Amino acid sequence: MKTDSQAHPQEVSRRGFYAQAIFVLNAIMGAALALPTLAYLFVPQTNRKKQSLIDAGDVSQLPSGVPVEMTFQQSRVDGWKVSTQKRTAWVVKNAANEITAFGPQCTHLGCAYHWDERPKQFVCPCHTSLFSIDGKVLAGPAPRPLDRYVSEVRNGRLLLGPLKQSEESAGNTEPHRSPCSREDAA
Ligand code: FES
Repeated sequence: MKTDSQAHPQEVSRRGFYAQAIFVLNAIMGAALALPTLAYLFVPQTNRKKQSLIDAGDVSQLPSGVPVEMTFQQSRVDGWKVSTQKRTAWVVKNAANEITAFGPQCTHLGCAYHWDERPKQFVCPCHTSLFSIDGKVLAGPAPRPLDRYVSEVRNGRLLLGPLKQSEESAGNTEPHRSPCSREDAA
């Protein structure tokens, strides 16, 4: 008596082909799903940090001792959505050609400050905090020096990482006071 495969050899080989194709497709999909997880688990943290540095622009021609506000784009990934945000940094090159990139917000209540060339200070217009060129608090209610970006310079380009909050300043000249306090309102 003949078995199924002996009776229909072509059908069996077609079935075998489909089974193999499904197996290969499953393997490809499995690999596609597993690779990001494996990369997350096994790519060292330092490598990931380096990859997340943002190119903020050319600093090779930056004048020494004159802060420059630099604008750059930062991409944010939220689930499947990728959005781009405009960010800024106050960048200072010192006499030794070292670069510091300050966050753009005053450490009091987050107003945008600017550089004033005549007294050579950063000035916050909201409650008149003053900061030196190296970010220290000179006057006003700001409780700590300006925050700094993690940064490095490669081939004349400024690469910025996360913004790091500065330590509380001992040199603050005024006690921290809310602008909405009763004293202000009077
Ligand atoms: S926000 Fe800058 S001094 Fe208040």
